[in-house]
Amino acid sequence: MTLSKKMINAQVMETNVDVFRCPICLSEMVMMDGSRLVCADNHSFDLSKNGYVNLAPQAHVTKYDQALFEARKTVMNSGFFDGVLESIVKTMEAQEHAVILDAGCGGGTHLSTILSRLTGDVTGVGIDLAKEGITAAAKEYPGAIWSVADLANCPFQTEKFDTILNILSPANYAEFTRLLKPGGLFVKAVPESGYLKELRDIFYEDKGQKEDADPVARVADHFDEVNTERITYTFPLAAELLAPLIQMTPLTWGASADKVEKALQMGIPTITIDFTIITGVKREESGLCLVE
Ligand SMILES: C[S@@+](CC[C@H](N)C(=O)[O-])C[C@H]1O[C@@H](n2cnc3c(N)ncnc32)[C@H](O)[C@@H]1O
Ligand SMILES: [Zn+2]
Repeated sequence: MTLSKKMINAQVMETNVDVFRCPICLSEMVMMDGSRLVCADNHSFDLSKNGYVNLAPQAHVTKYDQALFEARKTVMNSGFFDGVLESIVKTMEAQEHAVILDAGCGGGTHLSTILSRLTGDVTGVGIDLAKEGITAAAKEYPGAIWSVADLANCPFQTEKFDTILNILSPANYAEFTRLLKPGGLFVKAVPESGYLKELRDIFYEDKGQKEDADPVARVADHFDEVNTERITYTFPLAAELLAPLIQMTPLTWGASADKVEKALQMGIPTITIDFTIITGVKREESGLCLVE
């Protein structure tokens, strides 16, 4: 019998059901009939047609729609992000058995690529508030746990994850430190000033764009053994990738049709990728053990 995507995803969920926590009453959950997660207090969450589960207590409409995730997938599948993913995978290579959470996974492409490059026995969990992203992920990349969920209020038990990835997405450090096992690894990818600068030159007349806060300092506030690696390279952009590139990024939201047309006509032969990968290790609890 060929397993459907829903069955494949449901199996991974059932095997790892101990990671879940009811988003309403915070109690443990079990899988029923291979088709829903139910908590001790009887809150019930059906799996979708493709086998993701919506654990966000309220519906969220985000600006990330299906077309944007399609465009992101097309660009990412070209190898555009490979240098960044390679660097992320290097930070995780020592893990033999690992449960990995991608917090703000979008359409799941990065998590799926990372899982395929790790050799150990790894389980991937991808969450995002954008239902369109998680729908695409569950359909395209069966074999992981996909859930619509808020990374600021994660529907997971404490200390269940070996690694948390946070790529181009907002962070919630209270949740990330709660969820990681002792000694667990946090990996954040943040864009630097050169990222997509050729697009920015057209759309913003060369105004730099960077996260406001200092992300390395924020990670160091919460994690030990903080390391950073800057990854900068240019990627030859095939002509047919320019339209999806323009469509995939919030950088061009609100741009006039004229500007988009101008960019398409000009062409962008190469595009710059510029990221810092920040890693940190979950801090040991201090002051609890007074035994000499
Ligand atoms: C720029 S996209 C990056 C997506 C993916 N990591 C990638 O690199 O392709 C930012 C993502 O963060 C998600 N996001 C924003 N706030 C979130 C929250 N509170 N909980 C979960 N996801 C969130 C958005 O829905 C969006 O998919
Ligand atoms: Zn409940």
